[in-house]
Formats: sequence, C-alpha cells, structure tokens
Amino acid sequence: MRLIIRDDPKAVAYYTANYVRQRINEFKPTRKRPFVLGLPTGSTPVEVYWHLVDYYKRGEVSFRHVITFSMDEYVGLPRSHPESYCAFMHRHLYDHINLRPENVHMLDGNADDLAAECQRYEDKIKEVGGIELFLGGIGPDGHIAFNEPGSSLESVTRVKTLAYETVLANARFFGGDVNKVPKLALTVGVGTVRAAREVLLIITGAHKAVALAKCIEEGVNHMWTVSVVQLHPSAMIVCDEDATLELHVKTVRYFKSIEQVQEQLIGRQHIGLKGSISKLASSDPADSFGSGVLPPAAATASKDSNTSDASQSSADEDASDADDDDDDVSSQPFSDDEDRNGDTATAATPAASTPSPANILADSSSDINGVRVDDSLTPAAPVGNPF
Ligand code: PGA
Repeated sequence: MRLIIRDDPKAVAYYTANYVRQRINEFKPTRKRPFVLGLPTGSTPVEVYWHLVDYYKRGEVSFRHVITFSMDEYVGLPRSHPESYCAFMHRHLYDHINLRPENVHMLDGNADDLAAECQRYEDKIKEVGGIELFLGGIGPDGHIAFNEPGSSLESVTRVKTLAYETVLANARFFGGDVNKVPKLALTVGVGTVRAAREVLLIITGAHKAVALAKCIEEGVNHMWTVSVVQLHPSAMIVCDEDATLELHVKTVRYFKSIEQVQEQLIGRQHIGLKGSISKLASSDPADSFGSGVLPPAAATASKDSNTSDASQSSADEDASDADDDDDDVSSQPFSDDEDRNGDTATAATPAASTPSPANILADSSSDINGVRVDDSLTPAAPVGNPF
C-alpha cells in the first residue's frame, strides 16, 4: 500500500485529481475499452472534482469513454433533493464534463425493491468488466462508502443502517438537524471496493486521524472497514498532515522517505504511475532528481507531455472510435461540438450557484515536492506533475 502525505487538503485534492487524470490518459479508453471509475460523495472529494472539471475544460482529459459508479445513496431522499448523492454528483462533476449519460451509474434509493436495485448495481459493474479505479473517502469511524463498523469485509452492494456517528457527521448537510438525515443508505460493499483493480482513498483532517492509524498501523478489522485496503494489491491513500496526527512518527517518516528515496535513487521518469519501478537512475546527473524539483528542461517536457498525453489519448480514441460505430464521429473529443454530432455528452457551463473551480484553485498555496501548485494550476503556467 502506498501512503502519500501532503501538506493540506488542497494539495491532497491536487495530487489526487492529477493522478486520476493521468490514469485515464494512460489507459487510453475507447468505447470498446472504457475506463470504469468508482466515485465517492462527501466534502473531501469536492475539490478533486473541481480540478477534474478544470482539466476537462482545458482539454487535458476526456470522460467520453469513462463509465462511473457512485459509491452510495440515501434511501428515501428524493433524487432532486440537493443533498441526495445523485444531485451532489451532478452539481460537482457530471454536469460539467463530457460523460455520456448512459455511462453514469447511481444507486436508486427510491427503488421499489431495494434488494433488487443493489443486485442490479453489482450486475452492471460486472457487465462492464469491473471497476478499474475506485476513488473513495472515509468517515471518522473508518467506514469506506457506507460500510459502517461491523460490516462484513466480503459485503457487496446492499441496504445499510447508518451509524449514529455518521448521522451526526452528516447533519451539517441538513442544517445541523440529525432528524433530517436519512438513517438508511444503499452502498457498495467492502467486497465491491476490494474487487476494484485499484483503490485510491483520500483522507484529510484531524478528525480522521484515528481512522487512518487504525487503517494503517493495526490489523484488518471489520470495526474499521477501511483497513481492508491492507489486503488490496493496488491501494493508495493520499492524506494530509492533520490526518497523520495519530500515526507513529516512524510510520510517517517511513512513508515520506519512500518518496524521497525513489526520487533520489530512481528518478520520476522510471517510476510508473502506480508505483512500479522500471530501473534505477543512471549515473548521468541529468537523470537524477534528488532535489525533487524537475530541472527547467524536464519541467517543460513534463508540461508538454501532459498536454500531449491528452492529445495523444484523444487521437487514439478517435482512431479506435472510427471503427466502433457510425454515430461516434467527432474528431474533437474535448469539444462541445459533440452535441452537434448526435452525442449526448453533458458538458456544460457550471451553474452560477456552483462554486467555481477557478476560485478554489486560485488561492491554492500548497507545494508538492517543492513545486508550487498554485502557479501550475492556472492555464497560462506550466502544469505541475507531482509524480
Ligand atoms: P466527508 O465524508 O468527505 O464529508 O468527510 C466522507 C465519508 O463519510 O465517507
């Protein structure tokens, strides 16, 4: 398991969004081989979504061949309710990117037969080939999705009763009134998350420090369901400094040292996105990034490759799309022209009430390995590569 520690929630969101963008671009999804992404709700991923919207609008990633599955949904809350997870996902992500409506999957907490709805969800995940990357958050009680303490580590999508601690935590979204918080939810299971080919968790804040410590430093335990990631062959946690408050100093130092040692001995260019190491850095000084800061030429190349990655991905998907089917003829997968081609993609300008990615990104002040992320997030500046 990888633990990436960043200064604060902004840097966590930036790192995570960059990671998701690069995973999608490296995957080069096509209609026949889509990228299947599991997505959480909650306050923690919001800024990740704003970054992803920003990347989409800048043409750095396309969701044209991405399939999404949301993690959970309240039972009995109308979909149109602003706090339904359906409304949340549309508000923060789906309404602003070029996802095809038929590729968006959410649980229906108002289904007549909730058990059948849960089975339908599991079946759909299997039908599209399983989840490639499950992005998740956790609760202070260590729940992953709504898998509260005591959930079976083999559980699949089902109805779950929320723990009192979760109801209390979520009351902030319902005017502070615990009575308004739904007490039941549909949620993917711990087993559903485990079945994903990769799991990426974002954990921020001192209120989640105990859960992170239980997850990392103690055994796999159904009372801290997030700890199941210890059993996953490809799991990564991105957390902020506050979330590490309950970890042993040696744990924090160890995980921080992994990044430093890798940078010094291996070099970023030899480390795969998912952490695989192809070879050690050569003796050529230009091949070493001991300082953690890309030399100017490499930084430029990094910027260019970020852009060309997306362009290349775009070109590739266009090429494969040509064989896929007749209605999929756009040569500009990042363009609003899609609509004119009969594509029902939902790219749209965020509603006035939607917090602007530009606003939230503009005041970013965190740094990643010495690279200022605030500059790198403006369209005119180089796009930083934290990996
Ligand atoms: P939060 O919720 O991101 O709002 O903290 C996460 C969760 O409860 O899973």
